Amino acid sequence: HPIPVITIDGPTASGKGTVAHRVALQLGFHFLDSGSLYRLTALSALRHQASLNDEHALAKLAEKLPCKFVGDQVWLANENVTSAIRAEEVGNTASKIAVLPTVRRALVGLQLGFRAAPGLVADGRDMGTVIFPQATVKVFLTASVEARAYRRHKQLIDKGFPATMEDLLKDLRERDARDSGRAIAPLKPADGAYILDTSDMTADQAVEQVLRWYAAVK
Ligand code: C5P
Repeated sequence: HPIPVITIDGPTASGKGTVAHRVALQLGFHFLDSGSLYRLTALSALRHQASLNDEHALAKLAEKLPCKFVGDQVWLANENVTSAIRAEEVGNTASKIAVLPTVRRALVGLQLGFRAAPGLVADGRDMGTVIFPQATVKVFLTASVEARAYRRHKQLIDKGFPATMEDLLKDLRERDARDSGRAIAPLKPADGAYILDTSDMTADQAVEQVLRWYAAVK
């Protein structure tokens, strides 16, 4: 039997990160947060003051990303960047460089390497369409833009960051347009993907649905 893979793709703030992580914990599987690789590349570019127009230089940074994942901590060279990669600026830069084909290609090998026994849950935009098209279970996890803005708003306010619904709705719409509209690896459901709309669901209900789909085919 090949090593099982569950892919969970979806838009920003859909809750797919939380769901994917909990599914991985429940099954004792490895976890790939592929967005973190684009964020690491972005952070590396910001640190090296690489021009966001220099596709070649960015691809080189992505190809040789000196990153390490230890539990839920992320390292770039000798620096723990677990919180640094979550900054808004880094996320925005990540979504800009993610449109570059050479950068995407440079990150393929690293992503495939996460597939290891007893299994992998991979979270991102193109896990089911491009990176693991033969996955055991593919999920497209989404929620209305209003539900996503509301969740992000609550998260930010709980952490003590200022945020308005109006700004968040605008940001999410812009990022959706960029992720869905790009020519290479656009955000869309993979062939054979289950669509899970979590607008009116808790994270745990979404986790249980994914586990049921997996139990049905494994
Ligand atoms: O999911 P996260 O917000 O951490 O991802 C940061 C950015 O990386 C996204 O806005 C998206 O443009 C890009 N990304 C991607 N393909 C993936 C994962 C993330 O293009 N598989």
